[in-house]
Amino acid sequence: MMEPGYRSVSRRDSRSLVGYKHACHAMLHAPLPSSLSPFQMQMRFDGKIGFPGGFVDIRDHSLEDGLNRELAEELGCDQKLLCVTESDYRSSHATDAMPQKVVAHFYIKQLSLADLHRIEVAAVHAKDHGREVMGTIRVPLYTLRDGFGGLPAFLTNTFIGNAKEQLIYALRTLKLLSEEAIQTAISAGQEG
Ligand code: GTP
Ligand code: MN
Ligand code: MN
Ligand code: MN
Ligand code: MN
Repeated sequence: MMEPGYRSVSRRDSRSLVGYKHACHAMLHAPLPSSLSPFQMQMRFDGKIGFPGGFVDIRDHSLEDGLNRELAEELGCDQKLLCVTESDYRSSHATDAMPQKVVAHFYIKQLSLADLHRIEVAAVHAKDHGREVMGTIRVPLYTLRDGFGGLPAFLTNTFIGNAKEQLIYALRTLKLLSEEAIQTAISAGQEG
């Protein structure tokens, strides 16, 4: 399922890769016992969909320090509302395919529905809103009766890097959708 060119690498091993930049991105979500659970992504300046986050400098700072700085720049929320920690870390993938060699680290952070909504409201006042980030979006987690509307249609968007695979991974690990529903959405999107 992983994009060609992306290989899974451990957090520890990724640090000794030479000539790679490191980037950290986070999926923010709130638990609701339904397919309306808000999953957050963003429309980027380049018209592609991705997660909030960005490049981090691992020489001077931890991955999480860098990620929290990027989240503050792109979402404009203070640390009391949103602070990603090592326990939210999920995976790392290295690629040589981009203009530069990158290790992409991925985090999943669960928030209360009220806090997630506060973040959405604050995001329009963020430093990078309208520059790097064109807006925060919620991922439709359901499939409409026509078999294409909802998640299948969403998956036909253009995603940055391996963000689409990160999204599908998050759907799987959080078990909000059945494996069958995920598979159907992926293949309906490919046919659509
Ligand atoms: P600048 O401050 O303008 O450099 O942007 P940034 O630091 O916010 O970086 P950005 O978020 O664009 O991401 C840095 C790198 O990670 C780029 O190589 C992107 O291609 C890649 N990238 C961006 N978003 C995602 C994402 O959601 N998932 C993955 N896997 N990679 C991403
Ligand atoms: Mn940024
Ligand atoms: Mn970014
Ligand atoms: Mn940056
Ligand atoms: Mn920037």
